[in-house]
Amino acid sequence: MAKKPSIQAPKGMNDILPAEQPYWLSIFDAARAMCSFYGFQKIDTPIVEHTALFKRAVGEATDIVEKEMYSFKTKGGDELTLRPEMTASVVRAYIEHGMQVWPQPVQLWYMGPQFRHENPQHGRYRQFHQFGTEMFGDDSSAADALCIFMGYSLLRELGLKNLVVKINSIGDDACRPNYIKALKDYYKNNSKKMCALCRERAKTNILRVLDCKESKCQELAAEAPQMIDYLDDACKKHFKGVIEFLDEAGVMYIMDSSLVRGLDYYNRTVFEIYAQESDGVTLKTALLGGGRYDGLVQEMGGPKTSAVGFGMGIERLIIVMKELGIKPAQSGSRPDTFVVQLGELAKKKSFLLFDELRRGGIHAKATLGRDNIKAQLRVAHKFGVTYALIIGQKEALDGTVILREMNSGAQETVPVEKIVRVLSDRLGRPLPPLED
Ligand code: HAM
Repeated sequence: MAKKPSIQAPKGMNDILPAEQPYWLSIFDAARAMCSFYGFQKIDTPIVEHTALFKRAVGEATDIVEKEMYSFKTKGGDELTLRPEMTASVVRAYIEHGMQVWPQPVQLWYMGPQFRHENPQHGRYRQFHQFGTEMFGDDSSAADALCIFMGYSLLRELGLKNLVVKINSIGDDACRPNYIKALKDYYKNNSKKMCALCRERAKTNILRVLDCKESKCQELAAEAPQMIDYLDDACKKHFKGVIEFLDEAGVMYIMDSSLVRGLDYYNRTVFEIYAQESDGVTLKTALLGGGRYDGLVQEMGGPKTSAVGFGMGIERLIIVMKELGIKPAQSGSRPDTFVVQLGELAKKKSFLLFDELRRGGIHAKATLGRDNIKAQLRVAHKFGVTYALIIGQKEALDGTVILREMNSGAQETVPVEKIVRVLSDRLGRPLPPLED
């Protein structure tokens, strides 16, 4: 076994090697196409932000802010943090760039790395990537449903079939205080049955107690008062609207009163999407999570603005795709042809040939560092191409190329300007239009 290098990637942070890239590219392409169809525009924000942004937006009493942030002080004295999530950054950008005067709703999407100092395990990393959407300025149930539907449809398009949406409403500032009071009373009476961590959590953020994974806490949560019974008429109507959209769209969902999410900014609808295990009952880890956050823009210093969005974990999605044997749409690893070049002039001419092939949609490989024909043909075999293209000194001067059928070794000479049409024909591709 190869000796481990003394310096390795930081714990919980992974290289994404070429063999993995087709998954990433196919997810990016599908996400981009989906967002462009629904009118979402791409946004990129810095990977570091002022620490205060996450403290205020995500909440001081959350696991992310309490335990998981990579925070540091710069030489200039700024307190910065590697972003643990994107919603806070997008809200900051919305306010900073005055997006409230853009035509509403403002619909944005992003894909990029996030950092949380968690205990690394399968599907849980310290650097991970999210694809996400945020929609500002639309308070309708349809906006929440569209978010859920987009995430659900994207996962289905990528080949995941057995998906379950968990959904809940956590009310708003008008009705949640009554619920919090009922919950506090309930847990006060049952504090002996709670785990030690939940006893602490109950003091700062009682809602988090509901999604504790300890079995005794889950038993308690099952008997706890449910938010749904405390929703006021406006929140009830909003939630009913979301459910009706999902019913109409044929989205499979479960109402889960213990779903509260681990970030403080949510109100009304919260949701997560899971893939089912092969037993059709158990759920894998959440692929996507999101919800409505109507108070956040104002809380961060902007105008009162409703908002809703989700974040999808790309590493987790790829794990599930692999478990289900789903191949990425864009394999990218197998070229259509291999260009063998002999001599300096041929090497130089091969650049023009590459350009011709690229514009004709033919994916070609070469090893420009090698001159030996046998060695190059061996590499062509390894790539499994059916046809190789050979240019020597003579072909370089004549403006031709030799088309070699790899299995039989049969060869013919073709003018460079015709090679795309000839290859497309042999590869069974649609022929490119004839140029005058
Ligand atoms: P979140 O639930 O913290 O939400 O993360 C969203 C998704 O990111 C999770 O469902 C999971 O797939 C993935 N994820 C989270 N942590 C890790 C990790 N340590 N390793 C691998 N994957 C992970 C948010 O971040 C919200 N900003 C989502 C949102 C957008 N809400 C409204 N708009």
